[in-house]
Amino acid sequence: MSDERVIDEIAAARTAALAAIADAGSSGALAGMEPRFFGKTSDFGRIRSRLGQLDAELRKDAGRALHEARGEVESALEARRAELETAERRARLEAERLDLTEVVADRPLRGHYHLVSQAHRRLEDVFVGMGFTVAEGPEVETEWFNFKALNFADDHPARDMQDTIYVDLGEPGSTLLRTHTSPVQMRTMLAQDPPIYVVCPGRTFRRDTADATHMPVFHQIEGLVVDRGITFADLAGTLDEFVKAFFGAERTTRLRPSYFPFTEPSAEFDISDPTTRSGWLELGGCGMVHPNVLAAGGIDPEEWTGFAFGFGTDRMGKIFHGVDDLRALWTNDVRFLRQF
Ligand code: DAH
Repeated sequence: MSDERVIDEIAAARTAALAAIADAGSSGALAGMEPRFFGKTSDFGRIRSRLGQLDAELRKDAGRALHEARGEVESALEARRAELETAERRARLEAERLDLTEVVADRPLRGHYHLVSQAHRRLEDVFVGMGFTVAEGPEVETEWFNFKALNFADDHPARDMQDTIYVDLGEPGSTLLRTHTSPVQMRTMLAQDPPIYVVCPGRTFRRDTADATHMPVFHQIEGLVVDRGITFADLAGTLDEFVKAFFGAERTTRLRPSYFPFTEPSAEFDISDPTTRSGWLELGGCGMVHPNVLAAGGIDPEEWTGFAFGFGTDRMGKIFHGVDDLRALWTNDVRFLRQF
């Protein structure tokens, strides 16, 4: 190799080194290359060891060219190292990343009780706390349990096809979707001896057109107490106690005279509600169990007395959550339901 070609050799070594650096696929590979560029046996190393043999002029030029070329290779090496390390760090973070959105999406969505079921469970809790047990009855009932045994006259308007949904089963008019939870009173009396303290929450049905305040399917909770010496004062006290436990101590109750075939005397009961114009919200009906009803239930009205109450529970959603259209409870739009 002639002395004159030393400048070209330096340029060739520089080009080869820069190409190798650009080709390096990892910071590790790059680090492994360093001795190849700068070691004693590297191109630059061998050229440098020959510099002393060159004449002064060429030595100066070659020395400067070598210095520049090495500098260039050094900075290319540094830049490429930084580039590779950044990419490697990013890849590592990406690989270690916990993708929480995926974890959430993979997990089955947790549901919860429907608004009305929540109300029923709370109602049961409060009554159980007062010493009641919970009873249930069938939604498809007989005319006897739903009306006759509850002292409804044969020509009572509630029996009308306009109001009651009859089921095409057995004798015409003998089977129906229960129009209230009161038949569970009768089933309970026939199934157990007094003293009786039960509540019966459940689904009820009437021939109603759905609107903001009516649904053909709705819910009630029934209460029945039969014991010795039960008076109207026990009824009033129990309802007041319940309302304070369920709705809060600031609520009061009032009873207004009314009529139901299965109670005598009968009353409507209201709770105080500052959001209504009158200051009262009607919750349901109640009264002292009619002697005919006790007798139909196999209980001696001379020995035992009792009270009963029943109220609609769908409006609990309105009272507690300000839901003012009952239909929203039953369209099963999860965007609505998951709020409660
Ligand atoms: N069953 C009645 C209704 O659906 C409500 C009711 C009133 C229930 C008085 C009772 C009661 O137990 O004593 O309108």
